Amino acid sequence: MNVLIIGSGGREYSIGLALKKDKKVTKIFFAPGNGASDEIGENIDISDFEALANFAKSNSIDLTIVGPEAPLVDGIVDVFKAYNLNIFGSSKLASQLEGSKIFMKNFLKKYNIPTASFIETNFLEVASKFIDTLSVPIVIKADGLCGGKGVIIAQDKKEAKDAVKDMLSGESFGKAGLSIIVEEYLDGYELSVFAICDGENYKLLPAAQDHKRLLNGDKGPNTGGMGAYAPTPLIDEKLYKEIEEKVVKPTLKGMKENGMPYEGVLFMGLMIVKGEVKVLEYNVRFGDPECEVLMPLIKSSVFDLFYKATNGELESLDIKMRDEYGVAVVISSQNYPYKSSIASEIIVDEIILEELKQNAHISYAGVSKEDGKLYATGGRVLLCIGIGKSIKEARDRAYLMAGQVHFAGKHYRTDIAYQALR
Ligand SMILES: Nc1ncnc2c1ncn2[C@@H]1O[C@H](COP(=O)(O)OP(=O)(O)O)[C@@H](O)[C@H]1O
Ligand SMILES: [Mg+2]
Repeated sequence: MNVLIIGSGGREYSIGLALKKDKKVTKIFFAPGNGASDEIGENIDISDFEALANFAKSNSIDLTIVGPEAPLVDGIVDVFKAYNLNIFGSSKLASQLEGSKIFMKNFLKKYNIPTASFIETNFLEVASKFIDTLSVPIVIKADGLCGGKGVIIAQDKKEAKDAVKDMLSGESFGKAGLSIIVEEYLDGYELSVFAICDGENYKLLPAAQDHKRLLNGDKGPNTGGMGAYAPTPLIDEKLYKEIEEKVVKPTLKGMKENGMPYEGVLFMGLMIVKGEVKVLEYNVRFGDPECEVLMPLIKSSVFDLFYKATNGELESLDIKMRDEYGVAVVISSQNYPYKSSIASEIIVDEIILEELKQNAHISYAGVSKEDGKLYATGGRVLLCIGIGKSIKEARDRAYLMAGQVHFAGKHYRTDIAYQALR
């Protein structure tokens, strides 16, 4: 089987790595891929959806997997389906679950899925009035995609109203902020849960926890994610059951009723408040770095999982997970997330320790290749992933691996998975 992976990050690299180990897969293409993905497959430089669909047709691609949200929200799945191609991802309509927070919140309300109480508006007066009824902190969210920066947690009412004003005037986020959500603050702990969906059926993957802040102890600015681990002990059978009954099932049923059956990855950003689950948001793709720890934990065929999801055949699939843990440590460049850094060569020491060879690997993200040498050119450069019988063992292996990687300005957190090891 031939597979085309859309995207260029560590997430897409890790999907490629998992597929390369799958006996069913013959050839992998990345569009556009990165400086290291050409060692797993072939990079192609096409971004236009019609041109990609034509490429898939003429290269007998059996399955296309879409990594990032932007092409999903822009309708790549609809184009491929019009060509009768198998593609794993959500349709343009269904991608509104991530593309519009107002769509998402109204959907949650309509189907009685637990979430923070809220209003949607484009008027400062309406927002101000609602803010006056809330206790602090207060959460303000821009409607559209803001690259993970469109949420303000205001510590007092003035800050909340100022944030509203800046969003509605277009100053903060342009068009994405012209409509907003104002919502109640939820106090609890966060979980990311992923379901692979075929429109009707789903398979849950183990819950993961990511680390958004740049520095140890969850300090410093927000980033795309500095590390993740899975499965997290912060969830038990009872909570999984509650998530399935109160979130996953009503979401799939509701999306189908709305005429936009949900296919692809349903990423549920959840807040657990006193044992009760509330939906913070949905994303329509894997989290990055969560994907990098989940892929190697899947024991059964990763190809089957994605392929069957595109054919409405998930119900008959028995997905098996390894009885192990994964920890991913992101290694970023010097000036991340503020500005780009000077490209520097990446050297990885030869891995001699057999234990490390077997239970750790690198997922490449922001890298490019020149004259056969790898250079750190992006913000998040690569991830070191450790697998082990315990979170501690997995973490120790991830950090051993991180010690084998060298480039100028290398930065990483040293406390990934601390929540699980306290
Ligand atoms: N109602 C809320 N109460 C408490 N924290 C929140 C709330 N909504 C969002 N957050 C925090 O803000 C982060 C970003 O919000 P989210 O809805 O996930 O938007 P996005 O990922 O699109 O920026 C969440 O991960 C969470 O930490
Ligand atoms: Mg989020």
